[in-house]
Amino acid sequence: MQRRILCVPLLAAGLLLAFGTASADGNIAAGQKKAVACEACHGTDGNGIAPNYPALAGQYQDYLEQALHDYKDGQRTNAIMNGMAAPLSDQDIKDVTAYFSSLKSKLSSLHGKVQGSGHGL
Ligand code: HEC
Repeated sequence: MQRRILCVPLLAAGLLLAFGTASADGNIAAGQKKAVACEACHGTDGNGIAPNYPALAGQYQDYLEQALHDYKDGQRTNAIMNGMAAPLSDQDIKDVTAYFSSLKSKLSSLHGKVQGSGHGL
């Protein structure tokens, strides 16, 4: 009896994980179409047209998703982005972040540029 009670939440958690990761992906092709409005500032390559527009390319998708939800519900305030995020549905956010996340970042790492190699950089 005890065993059975334990199994139900475990199964539920497993299902949640399985579906959670699948829907977190979003649709890159749909996201590309929805991202047209964003490109004026974040650039057609997602790297931002100027330093005051953050690069979205290659960022973790869940980070971008979180940022957009925070703008949408007002947890993060920025006059431009609160307005841009307001009309986005949860699916729009998934798609558009899947798209920007899939683009190549222009940020470089310090790999090979730091003196005294051998410490993993
Ligand atoms: C008019 C210019 C403009 C447009 C258009 C625009 N953004 Fe932004 N975006 C900004 C600025 C400026 C910031 C930095 C705001 C801040 O400091 O919080 C930003 C920040 C963001 C961030 C947070 C980045 C980070 O590293 O925290 C995300 C995600 C984002 N924008 C996504 C979008 C998406 C998706 C669209 C299209 C639906 C869009 N933006 C349209 C100017 C713009």
